[in-house]
Order: sequence, then C-alpha cells, then structure tokens
Amino acid sequence: VPAVRIGICGLGTVGGGTVNVMARNSDEIAARCGRPVEIVQIGARRDNPVCDTSQLTVTREIFDVANNPDVDVLVELIGGTTVARELVLTAIANGKHVITANKALIAEYGNELFAAAAEKGVTIAYEAAVAGGIPIIKSLREGLVGNRIEWLAGIINGTGNYILTEMREKGRSFDEALAQAQALGYAEADPTFDVEGIDAAHKLVIMASLAFGMPLAFDKVYTEGISGVSKEDIRYADELGYRIKHLGIARRTSEGVELRVHPTLIPQRRLIANVNGVMNAVLVHGDAVGPTLYYGAGAGAEATASAVIADIVDVARTLNVRPDQRVPLAGVTQDSQGTLDE
Ligand code: HSE
Repeated sequence: VPAVRIGICGLGTVGGGTVNVMARNSDEIAARCGRPVEIVQIGARRDNPVCDTSQLTVTREIFDVANNPDVDVLVELIGGTTVARELVLTAIANGKHVITANKALIAEYGNELFAAAAEKGVTIAYEAAVAGGIPIIKSLREGLVGNRIEWLAGIINGTGNYILTEMREKGRSFDEALAQAQALGYAEADPTFDVEGIDAAHKLVIMASLAFGMPLAFDKVYTEGISGVSKEDIRYADELGYRIKHLGIARRTSEGVELRVHPTLIPQRRLIANVNGVMNAVLVHGDAVGPTLYYGAGAGAEATASAVIADIVDVARTLNVRPDQRVPLAGVTQDSQGTLDE
C-alpha cells in the first residue's frame, strides 16, 4: 500500500511535538493506519531546536506545502487566522485533506472552511483544537453520538488554569504565573487570548457545534477572562469552601443554546474543582449516558501532538476506503434542536 503523504506547516510547540512523536511511535502509527505515514514536506519559517529535521524536507515557503502535488494531507500548525485561512483554503482547493490545531481558525472561519471542504469532498479534522490531548471532539462526534446533549462545561484553557493554580498554591503573582505558562509553551502567541477568555470561547463554540448540531457561533459567546481575578478573590473563595475556576459552558434552554465563558465558584468537593495546573476537564451530560467527564493535559507540545496524530490516523483510515464509499468525518451537522438564541 502507498504511504499517506503528510505535509506539516508550522514547527512551533505543536509542530515540533508532532514531528517528534511521529518519529518515536512511527511503527505503531503505521500499523494503526494500515499503511506507512510519511512526512514529505515541512513548511516552517524557522527551525525548532527540539526536533531533528535533518532527514526531512523543509521549506521556508509554507504555501509550497499546500501546492505540493505529493502531499495528501496538510497539517496546519502555524496558528493565527489570516495566513492560516488562506493556507487551508489553498490546500482544500488542491484537493488535500486538512488537519488543524487552530481553534481560532475553526471557531471564526469553520463554517466557510467546512463548506469549501464539503464541496471538494475532503475532510477537515481538528481534534487538537480543543482541550489539547483530550479526545473530546471524537467523544462528542462518536462516543456520545446516540445522545441528546443537555449541557457541557469545562476548564478548557490550560494557561488560565495554570495561572489560577499557581496563584492559589504558590502565592505567585498573575504576571509571574503567566510568564511561566509562556515559558512552558502553553500560552497563545498573544496571551490576551488565554487570559481574556477568547481561547476558551473558541473551544466552546467548536464543542457546541458538535454537541448541539449548530453552526459555529463565536460572536454569540458571552466572554469574560481571568484577568480580573486577584489573589484575595482566590483566598476568600478558599475560606468559603470554593475554588475559582474559569469555565466554558454550553447549555440547551427553551430559547436556544446558551454559550458563556467566565470565572466561576465551584465547591471544593467537586472533581472539576480539583483540576489543577495545565490540566483541562470537560463534563458532558447526555440524556442516555448521564454525566461524563474527560480529563487530561490541555496544552503542551506532545499532549497536543497526540491529538494531531489521532487525526492523521483517522484521515489515513478514510483513505483506505474507496472514494465513493467514504463516509466523511462529521463537521458541523445541523439538527432541529440546535437553533441559536438570537
Ligand atoms: N493556549 C492554549 C491553552 C493552548 O492554554 O489552553 C491549547 O489550546
């Protein structure tokens, strides 16, 4: 069987992690794909000292990857929404499947990108866009597919949870904890996205689109971050038996789906109150299954690479099926319940 030919754009935290994990676990990954997986080209403006690309083809021109006829699957890990959107649209126009870790791109332009992909009969996979290594997209799309989802809520920004945890446990200042999260590769290029709740809002609308079968509605999210939370707030909450956690919440109401992101007080005995550091956790309540909880690293090089590679295997498996018999991975599907509260 021919190899699945991958082109990776971006060699930052997630790109570097992806290259390393793919090299380390190449035998297992190939076995699970049913065919070899080959990185035929990397497009990156600069090298990443954590990974050895000496045996790989690297170009500084990332659009070369989207235009490379030898690439079957383009993995977009450059971040941002301007160049990334153009890059993904180019790849789709050239008939490539796309895998992305870019939550801003999916949340803000996903409706357009999914339509373009559907037109071309290619897949856009985005497991790594939400909650780092936690397979929450697959859980919503596959594991819980028989349920009517009532609500979901989660700690979905690793940087913010890391900052709140460091402030509470080590008495660190907000700025000090943020600098540490940046040094560890958790934060967004613009950390305002993390601390003002924008990153969480991106992830929330992506989960809501799958849970409730509604279009991506980023502009409908009530968004508040953690930048206003002080050490005193955290201490008072502790004294009263609570933890301050930044949550994203999506809930069905009689008027539509409510979407909000803000700091909340959670009783200390709750599991989710004890999710600390960069860890994320998502609670999903289905009518059949009841409450379910997903927990794991929400950011970081290899945790996020784990999700990117899961998508690579997923897409590779669809390529094993004859084109006319392929069932595309569900993108946004609309059902009658998922109307928005206008
Ligand atoms: N900056 C994001 C976070 C990265 O801290 O959660 C993972 O999406």
